[in-house]
Amino acid sequence: MAIYYNITTLNDFVILKQKDYPNAKGELSNLLSHIGTAAKIVNKKITKAGLVDILGRAGTVNVQGEDQQKLDIYADKVFTDALRTSGDCCGLATEENQNIIVFTDKFARKGKYVVCMDPLDGSSNLDYNVSVGSIFSIYRRITPRGENVGNEDFIQKGDMQVAAGYIVYGSSTMLVYSTGNGVYGFTLDPSIGEFCLSHSCIKTPEAGRIYSINEGNYVNFPMGIKKYIKYCQEKDESTGRPYTSRYVGSLVSDFHRNLLMGGVFMYPSNANAPKGKLRIVYECNPIAFIAEHAGGAASDGHERIMGLTPESLHQRSPFYTGSKNMIKKIEEFLATEGY
Ligand code: AHG
Ligand code: MN
Ligand code: MN
Repeated sequence: MAIYYNITTLNDFVILKQKDYPNAKGELSNLLSHIGTAAKIVNKKITKAGLVDILGRAGTVNVQGEDQQKLDIYADKVFTDALRTSGDCCGLATEENQNIIVFTDKFARKGKYVVCMDPLDGSSNLDYNVSVGSIFSIYRRITPRGENVGNEDFIQKGDMQVAAGYIVYGSSTMLVYSTGNGVYGFTLDPSIGEFCLSHSCIKTPEAGRIYSINEGNYVNFPMGIKKYIKYCQEKDESTGRPYTSRYVGSLVSDFHRNLLMGGVFMYPSNANAPKGKLRIVYECNPIAFIAEHAGGAASDGHERIMGLTPESLHQRSPFYTGSKNMIKKIEEFLATEGY
């Protein structure tokens, strides 16, 4: 018999998965499906970027003093509105806002979850048609339901994440997420406007061969990283070296490629940025969650990223994530040659 319907959409899938948790009330599923819809709206704008007046700088800077692109602000607003109206999210923290956003209407206040987001990652690449992403992380709130959320709800240990994921707006648009029980990837089929399950139970190779780092910062790297880069470039048959180097400059894109192919993404501390560049709460932790649940690792150079307790919303950390063998080696180099 011919089959006329053989897709699993993101929305179908989150509801199917919910059945694994008999006590689940569908709140997380609802949140994920709102994130999926917002991602489609952001995707629509990105794919038209050269045609409408959305490219370029907005003329403002964000809390970290970085230039905001028009699309940074657009994506921030779309995700904020989607989460506010979901009814299951009581507050949001994003790269674009100095303070947390507290949803104060009576439904949202009762929401069980808070979300941390980098609404548009790699946005300096946007004007040049290079792939970018969005990153999200979901926690159960600590403050009682019905009250306004506070900072403590957002600066939890990465280990406390209930779900996390990202969208990569690449040659195709994909949403990858995990609720701690497998990592799943959905490709947007633009003809039907649905994210369709395309990558079931993603596992990252334990032994990777790609290293991704901005080598332009080499002179400022810690000695351990300088030596590790040289190690990657040396010839050695048993470990498959020299490794190959790839760097897009969008964390999501670099991470996504390495997740599927095996490799490591590095953003070390450097002489100009002692804590590196990437933010723990909405960049490192969600990516670390995906990495670990796919069998990989994520570290700040000596300990697991998700074991850290951030002290502030926009705190940065050196970040190393990807295949286990590579993270282990990097930690060894840093420990013996210096941070
Ligand atoms: P964002 O666009 O959200 O500020 O993030 C940019 C980040 C990240 O995506 C990327 O890995 C890194 O910046 C690249 O930094 P360099 O240009 O210093 O290599
Ligand atoms: Mn980013
Ligand atoms: Mn960003």
